[in-house]
Amino acid sequence: MKLSREELKGLMKGKLMKAGLTEEHAETTAEILTWSDERGYHSHGSVRVEYYSERIAKGGITVHPKFEWKETGPCTGTFEGDDGCGYVAAALAMEKAIEMAKKNGAAIVGIRNISHSGSIGYYTEMAAKQDLAAISFCQSDPMAVPYGGTEPYYGTNPISFAAPADDGRIVVFDMATTVQAWGKILDKRSRHENIPDTWAVDEKGKPVTDPNLVNALVPIAGPKGYGLMMMVDVFSGVLLGVPFGKHVSSMYHDLSEGRKLGQMHIVIDPARFVGTEAFKKAVSMTCDELNGMTPVEGFKKVYYPGQGAVERKNQAYADGGIEIVDEICEYLKSDAVHFDRYDHKNRFAD
Ligand code: NAI
Repeated sequence: MKLSREELKGLMKGKLMKAGLTEEHAETTAEILTWSDERGYHSHGSVRVEYYSERIAKGGITVHPKFEWKETGPCTGTFEGDDGCGYVAAALAMEKAIEMAKKNGAAIVGIRNISHSGSIGYYTEMAAKQDLAAISFCQSDPMAVPYGGTEPYYGTNPISFAAPADDGRIVVFDMATTVQAWGKILDKRSRHENIPDTWAVDEKGKPVTDPNLVNALVPIAGPKGYGLMMMVDVFSGVLLGVPFGKHVSSMYHDLSEGRKLGQMHIVIDPARFVGTEAFKKAVSMTCDELNGMTPVEGFKKVYYPGQGAVERKNQAYADGGIEIVDEICEYLKSDAVHFDRYDHKNRFAD
């Protein structure tokens, strides 16, 4: 079913408020979820609302958190999330990081004790919209086998980089360190489609195509992706004093408890290096050169990261709205807050 931006965001905001979030927090969360859905990142859009609503209703997301911002140095700070909504904490912490980077040239901001914060490219894009370069990365619940291992130990631990270019263009690189985000498997399940055999393994460590048989995800590029997911955990978990590695809370274990996740934002002012205009001009030149390259057979063009997402957004609106799975639309339009579906389930909500 196709929904307009206003309709989708309004439905999600209404549902989150019905579950107990304040209007301000529901507004921010619905905005970021819409950002994901309109870019085709359906794994991190409306598909999550029922789960969040159940967690909010059961007390696992503090609805009136005591957020605490502390500057620990001219370029460093911590943002205590008090088990509040991860989207709101991550966005507010990025606002602090932007302010600090504009003032002092750079900001390294650690966010502690938050719930899931969704598509982290949203936060790096916030900084790039203000002519800053940014990196963000965070923990997620253990569901990926380490290279050579048999048990899930790390999460899909995503990383995003963003850099501004001219003409309002922004390069937003935003990826899970697993071959696919868990949400992509969730999305395939909701669409009753199979997954490629390179995404995940079953209980015996064998590749699977049925999304219902997945036991663990696999890191991108073997030991290299495994190394990246480990260092994301070291820099956004160990460094911030929150649970790390296999001790990171499971998304679906106990919806009445806070997740206590960590996230790190790093923001850099290009004015302190090559200069803002020179930086944007060079990033633009890079994008133009990449776009201008002859693509290999079967490719439309060479895209820069994030370009396809913006094309998908523009196409969705040109085609009459964002395509949302009927089942999700029905839930969003129903009176139910949740269907008691996720609490005390395994890491794959089974
Ligand atoms: P993806 O695989 O769809 O895209 C990864 C990156 O590759 C993007 O920057 C995209 O622009 C780029 N890309 C894709 N195709 C391209 C092409 N043809 N040419 C050039 N660049 C291309 O993303 P993934 O890994 O599935 O992640 C989806 C979302 O899930 C992200 O927003 C991520 O932040 C979020 N996520 C959040 C987690 C959390 O715990 N908060 C955990 C894991 C993922």
